[in-house]
Formats: sequence, structure tokens, C-alpha cells
Amino acid sequence: MKKVRILIIGFGVIGSGVARAISEKREFISDKYGIDFEVVGIGERDGCIVCPEGIDAMEAYKLKQDGTLNKHPCWKDGVSSIDLIKGANADIVIEATPTNINSGEPGLSHMMAAFNTKKHVVTSNKGPLTIAFQKLKKTAEKNGVQFRFEAAVGGAMPVLNLVRETLQANEILSIEGILNGTCNYILTRMSTEGLPYEHVLSEAQELGIAEADPTYDVDGIDTACKLVILANAILGMNVSYKDADVTGITQISPGALKLASDDGYVIKLIGEIKDRNRPRVAPRLVPKDHPLAVGGTLNVISLRTDLAGEITVTGKGAGAIETSSSILSDLISIYKA
Ligand SMILES: NC(=O)c1ccc[n+]([C@@H]2O[C@H](COP(=O)([O-])OP(=O)(O)OC[C@H]3O[C@@H](n4cnc5c(N)ncnc54)[C@H](OP(=O)(O)O)[C@@H]3O)[C@@H](O)[C@H]2O)c1
Repeated sequence: MKKVRILIIGFGVIGSGVARAISEKREFISDKYGIDFEVVGIGERDGCIVCPEGIDAMEAYKLKQDGTLNKHPCWKDGVSSIDLIKGANADIVIEATPTNINSGEPGLSHMMAAFNTKKHVVTSNKGPLTIAFQKLKKTAEKNGVQFRFEAAVGGAMPVLNLVRETLQANEILSIEGILNGTCNYILTRMSTEGLPYEHVLSEAQELGIAEADPTYDVDGIDTACKLVILANAILGMNVSYKDADVTGITQISPGALKLASDDGYVIKLIGEIKDRNRPRVAPRLVPKDHPLAVGGTLNVISLRTDLAGEITVTGKGAGAIETSSSILSDLISIYKA
């Protein structure tokens, strides 16, 4: 049995959800792959839990839900996540702090500290990847450790690992898809119920599908960030968020959606990269029976390949348990070989 010592940095929706999934899947994974995942540290903004002999991940999850993580017997007030990463005897860092597309921080420093102390990184955090992809990749390579980020694009949807493992003989020629569940939810309801944008947005906010400040989603920024990650990771490009051409969904009217529908189309916010040209995010007409015409909060990605032709995957782009599927997949694939 291979024991793998894990640090979880950022113990919010995703970080604590992964702790729960590790706890629930520990036996399944050890039986199937001979790998025993043990959480030995948890980093939060205001302190850390450090426990070399192992943390009960389900207990930590429950304490977080109750807002009492700092009552854990191994809690250390004020110890920074950077110090935890540098000092802990651990093999791998799961980085799940908030996305920051301006500086990439705090995730960027966490990832660099992990690589420089020979720890693998698995992350759901888009920020560092959209502004410093090459630097992170090179630092991981220099230190002989792995850098995996399936969860950063499309939550549960397997796209990076699909390309890495299953489509490995293919050249990927173009990528297009719906990469933001909030926009897809808003457009789907506007279209099917004939409702105005503001109305659906406020209901989406009440349901927790849209943020109080929805700018990042509805202006297409989130889609562009994910597209940039795909461009760098799958197409081998060297682009950042600033290279993308981005239009969001705020100007789409119920009238435009009705006209489109009468002609057999839906309007979707599509991110696309064709022939290694500039990443582009914009509302586009999609035939109702096209594979990209998925509804609700679903995400979808279509890859055009030289051998396999068109490959399309769809799935949930967010959610703690769904996203933990991608994080666990990355963790297992680092150690499975
Ligand atoms: N939620 C999803 O469904 C989803 C899906 C795919 C990807 N993602 C990405 O995954 C990441 C985490 O998302 P989330 O929904 O879990 O966010 P979240 O609930 O806001 O959790 C982030 C956690 O990181 C903590 N944090 C902030 N600064 C920190 C620091 N310097 N050191 C250690 N911890 C720090 C936060 O603490 P405070 O609360 O004290 O600030 C919070 O507990 C984001 O980058 C997000 O874009 C999320």
C-alpha cells in the first residue's frame, strides 16, 4: 500500500468537499489502486491544522460546516499556508483558494512553494493558471513533480485527462464549448420562459447559481480563463487572459432568443479556439439539435481532432462533490502508474 500525505490549502466549498470525498472514497481507492490518501494538513486564511499522524478528514469537513474548524485540537492560529506547505512532511498539495485573475495570489505563491519543496500540485484554482501557466509548468518540471488541474476547467467534466490519456495519439485542432454554468442557466431560462435577463439573474442569485457580483461570469471572464487554460494545456499555446477576445451575455434580449428559436437555434455563450488563433468568447447561434446545445447549468466541450474527428463531453461544471471527482482523478493518476 502506497501512503500519500496530502495538504489541502483553502478549505471552502471545494477544499472541504474534497476532504469529505477522500474520507468517503478512501477504502474504495486503497482496494482498487493500492493507494492510501491521508490528509496531514489543512490551510485556511487565518490558520492551519497540522497533524503529521493524519487528520480525520470527515471530522474536519463537519467542523468546517459548523464554522468551528479552529476548534480542531491540532489547529494553529495565524500559521500561514505558505509556512505549512514549506514545512510539512507531505507529498502533494491540493490548492483550492479563491480564483484571482489579476495577481494569481494567494494560489500562485502556494503552488510555487509546493513545487520548490518537491510536492505535486492538484488544483481547481484558475487564477495562477491564467496568468503564469508556463512558469508553473516549468517549475514543476524542474523539481520533478506533477502539476494537474482537471478541476479548474469544467468542474467534473473530464477534458484534460481525456486528451492526455485517451486521445493521446490525436492532434487537437480546435476547441469550442460552454464553460460557464451560470451563463448557460440564465440563457436557457430566458429562452424557454421568455424572461428578461435581469429577472433570471436575480432568481439565479437567490438560488446560489449566480454570485452577488455576477460580473466575472456574465461578462465572459470566467469562460475566457478556462479557454486560456485549455489553449495552454491542450494546444501548447502561450496565452493569458489578456489575449482573449471576450463578449458576455448581458446584452442578449428575450426578443433575440425568440427570433433564434423560431429559426431552430439557441443562443449560447461559446468559448472557442480555432487553428491556434486568439481565444474568443461570444454569444453564438447554435442549432437546437447540435451537441453543444446543452441546457441548464451544464457545461460542454467539443474537441476537433485529426484521428477521432469530433469528440464532445458534457457534465456538471461546478459543485463540491462533482469537482472532487476531477481532483481525485488527478490525485490517483499521479500515483497509479
Ligand atoms: N465551487 C465550485 O463549484 C468550483 C468548481 C471548480 C473550480 N472552483 C475553483 O476552486 C477554488 C475554490 O473554490 P471554492 O468554491 O471552494 O471557494 P471558497 O468556498 O471561497 O473557498 C476558498 C477557501 O480558501 C480560503 N482562503 C482564502 N485565502 C487563503 C489563504 N491565503 N490561505 C489559505 N486559505 C485561504 C478561504 O477562506 P476565507 O473564507 O476566510 O476567505 C476559503 O475557505 C476557486 O479558485 C474556484 O474558482 C470552484
